[in-house]
Amino acid sequence: MRLAYTGRRRADFLLGLASRRTGPPPFRAMVTAPTSVAPTAGPAPDPPGPKGMPWFGSQGEVRANPMRFYTRMANEYGGIVRFFYGRKPTYLISEPELIREFLVERRDLYVKNTRYSLLVRAIGNGLLNSDGQTWQEQRTASQPGFSRSRIHSQVDRTVAIATQHVERWERWADTAEPHDIEPDMSVLIQELIGQSLLGPVFGEISERFVELVEEIREYWPPTVRTLLGHLKPPPIRRIRHLKGLLDELDEMVFAAIRKQRESGAVNDSLLSILARAEVDEEGRRFDEQSLRDQLLTLYFAGFETSASTLTFMLYRLSLQPGIRDRLYAEVAELGGREPEQADLKALGYTEQCLHETLRVYPPAYNFSRVMLEDTTVGGYRVAKDCMVIISPYATHRLPKVWPNPEGFDPDRFSEEQAKGRSQFAYIPFGAGHRYCIGGPLALVQMKLITAVIAQRYRLDAKPGHPVEPIPGTVMRPERGMPVLIRRV
Ligand code: HEM
Repeated sequence: MRLAYTGRRRADFLLGLASRRTGPPPFRAMVTAPTSVAPTAGPAPDPPGPKGMPWFGSQGEVRANPMRFYTRMANEYGGIVRFFYGRKPTYLISEPELIREFLVERRDLYVKNTRYSLLVRAIGNGLLNSDGQTWQEQRTASQPGFSRSRIHSQVDRTVAIATQHVERWERWADTAEPHDIEPDMSVLIQELIGQSLLGPVFGEISERFVELVEEIREYWPPTVRTLLGHLKPPPIRRIRHLKGLLDELDEMVFAAIRKQRESGAVNDSLLSILARAEVDEEGRRFDEQSLRDQLLTLYFAGFETSASTLTFMLYRLSLQPGIRDRLYAEVAELGGREPEQADLKALGYTEQCLHETLRVYPPAYNFSRVMLEDTTVGGYRVAKDCMVIISPYATHRLPKVWPNPEGFDPDRFSEEQAKGRSQFAYIPFGAGHRYCIGGPLALVQMKLITAVIAQRYRLDAKPGHPVEPIPGTVMRPERGMPVLIRRV
């Protein structure tokens, strides 16, 4: 979510975000020498790329559709491109080998890009946005919450919650009335993530909590998609309402933290894990605000991404009945009983379908860094203070790695076809040390939800409904995803 200057300042002011504890200042991380920098003789050349319009550079095209623009840049100019966002040089790196060089070898030369992010200002300095030692401490403290054993311990609960949600579709089953599944996927994943993060206390507050988050999504300022769109900031009334919603959400999270502290309850929630690990190596405590930042960050990072993936996958399956039949046949092997942890491995084709969806529709369509130093990537100059963008959407469409890139073919992820492919060619969960902490959890949740759906219903996209992926905090279908629901 990027707001340009005028709108952002006003939105920040009205949201009172200056008084919320906000994300780190952009250039806060410690700078150390790079582990390896390609030697260059003389000054390195600038990467190729378009000049764009005077003053605005390529900003108009980026705003209109960043996914399309980055894909075009990668195809026209190659693995590293320099373009101008306004007058500022900005870099796009799309070749797998250069992504590796940048994210891994230059890891000490950049920080996460938190500039202009309203989301960062709202959810605070959690794992997604922090850098340097703060990030390291947060990652170490949170990692046990995402261990394999903890993910597996949540399988039964995931299946129970998914079943409960999906059975609400009975109302639409075998009728001619289309039903929009996008909000359903969002609410379902929120229930799962909420339980996983806050534990049993989430059961008591989930209804209002999810309602609030859905309303926040509705009131969130839309991504500005025209060059001058930022000159028209969101209406004050809308921003005030949003602030009220965020405050209420904050209060609920703080109440859950206080309750956990008072009860000292030991359960498998991340809140319980973090509360017990709240003294760091130097004896400092994670205060309530840090716990709140952490929990809200994980909540927001975790639900829209998976909800978008499931929505797009169910849509694509409906367009390709052959692929859907194969997935349904795999699920039918369970013999109609509920999926269990031991079945996860057997749902291999289901997982391939999820990977192919994440390739074609990566919810995090781009992520970025800000350079602390001048450096080189692929022998080209990358300048200090500039932004470097990595676009999973563009990298997942490089024709030499992914022939017929728009074609939906889960067999690309069969063992045979995946052999020898660079791990940096498929990056829906990012790469390097900032790799998504929740990826394995998300995959297990999505696999189980898919199985629960496939045991009950066949979904068909509403005929004639245009499905256009649009940029936002994550990539999602512009006009929802109405489908016709049939019992299997
Ligand atoms: C389909 C599901 C998901 C997708 C596609 C996804 C995607 C990503 C991507 C691309 C990044 C790297 C961003 C960067 O390098 O700047 C990331 C990081 C992160 N994700 Fe996810 N994510 C998903 C699910 C989750 C879940 C379920 C959680 C937690 C409950 C989560 C929490 C995080 C956090 C905390 C980070 C920052 C990690 C760090 O910097 O150490 N994500 N995610």
